[in-house]
This record gives sequence, C-alpha cells and structure tokens, in this order.
Amino acid sequence: MKKETKIMITKDGPILVLGGLPIDKQIIGIGKDDEPEKWIKGEKISDGQCSLCRCGESKNKPFCDGTHAKIGFDGMETASRESFDKQAQVMDGPTLKLKDVTPLCAAARFCHRGGGTWELTHHSDNQEARELAIEEACNCPSGRLVEYDKKTGKVIEKEFEKSISLIEDPQNRVSGPIWLKGEIPIESSDGKTYEVRNRVTLCRCGKSENKPFCDGSHIEAGFDDGDESLK
Ligand code: FES
Repeated sequence: MKKETKIMITKDGPILVLGGLPIDKQIIGIGKDDEPEKWIKGEKISDGQCSLCRCGESKNKPFCDGTHAKIGFDGMETASRESFDKQAQVMDGPTLKLKDVTPLCAAARFCHRGGGTWELTHHSDNQEARELAIEEACNCPSGRLVEYDKKTGKVIEKEFEKSISLIEDPQNRVSGPIWLKGEIPIESSDGKTYEVRNRVTLCRCGKSENKPFCDGSHIEAGFDDGDESLK
C-alpha cells in the first residue's frame, strides 16, 4: 500500500515531509529583458521522510537541526484559512479571467514580462498576449496568480508530480521558499488542513508575516541557504 504523503507544520518548529517526496532545487532563470523567465532544475536534495527548517537559522539547511528551540522561534500560523476563491480578486479579460490573492506573493517575479500578467490578461484577445499571460501565471510558484479560460470556465494549470522544490533566486542573491507542487496536503500545527492546491510556497526564512506561507520576506532578510547558485 502506498504511504500517505503530506506536509505537517509543527508548532514553532520545522516542516515535516511525511511519507517521503522528491525534493530538488529550482533556480529562477533570468531572460534577456532581465526578468525571471524560466525555471532551471538544480540538484536533488532528498526523497525520503525529512524535516525542513522553517525558522531560517539551522546550520544544516535545508534540514532542521533543532536550533528553532534554542532561539525561541515564533512560527505562529497567521495565514487565512479561507479558500483561494474566497480571497481572490478577479480580473476579467476578453478570453481569460485572472484570479489573484496578493498575500500569497512569493516575489518570484515571473509576472513582470510583457507589461505584466494583469495587462496581458486585459489584452488576451491577442494570441501572443494570451499565451504569455498563461505562461507567467503557471510559473508563479505560490499559486497567487491563477488563469481561467473564459470559454470553458476551466482553470489553466500545469500538471505536476507530487514533489517539493527549494527555490533559489540568484538575481537577488537569496534563497526562496519551499515550493510544494501537485496537490500535497498541508496539515497545520492545530490539526486542521489548508485548502489543497496545485502550487503553494511555504516560508523557510522564518520572517513571513503570512506563515506558513511565503510572503517574499526572504529578499529583505537576505536569506541564504549556502546554495552554489548564489555565489
Ligand atoms: S525549524 Fe528547526 S532549526 Fe529551523
């Protein structure tokens, strides 16, 4: 029987990967206009059960080494428990509808090219604009941005294997969040579960004000897990 895989957020402690999931690095690749354009696959980290640091202070990143207890890490989960749909602002374009939940922004910046995903959605009767809007929204690791096809009413999502990536952002010389892909359930430290989504990013610098999710604070914090790509 296949083991149940899920993520468990522990109170003021690490993120447990239960059942084991493949974990690799994914590096934000910059295009010719100096904006994030593609994901570059990095090294494989693990595929077993493990505990990932979320206080940002482990000496054995990305894994927890118990430092959270010594520093009195406050990992209080402050994120909304409402569904994405309930929180989303909606932008209605001619062929696409964009849903946006700004507190989930992980500052990966794939939404910047071509005037930005919002502007592109607004011009989605133009095929090129439509395609770029979809590409950008699908590259958004946190699932802040989600495009819907207006004709079919269906969500437009990339299909992912259940897997985890640790994001690296060499342009800003920082390490980013933990990217969960493929509808991995997340259990809160209070035992409740968050809405299961195709793309989610979890804070691992300890500084997000929207825990357990990333809010982009790793950039200001200069969070660095020692990855080669940042040197
Ligand atoms: S959460 Fe345990 S060392 Fe950071």
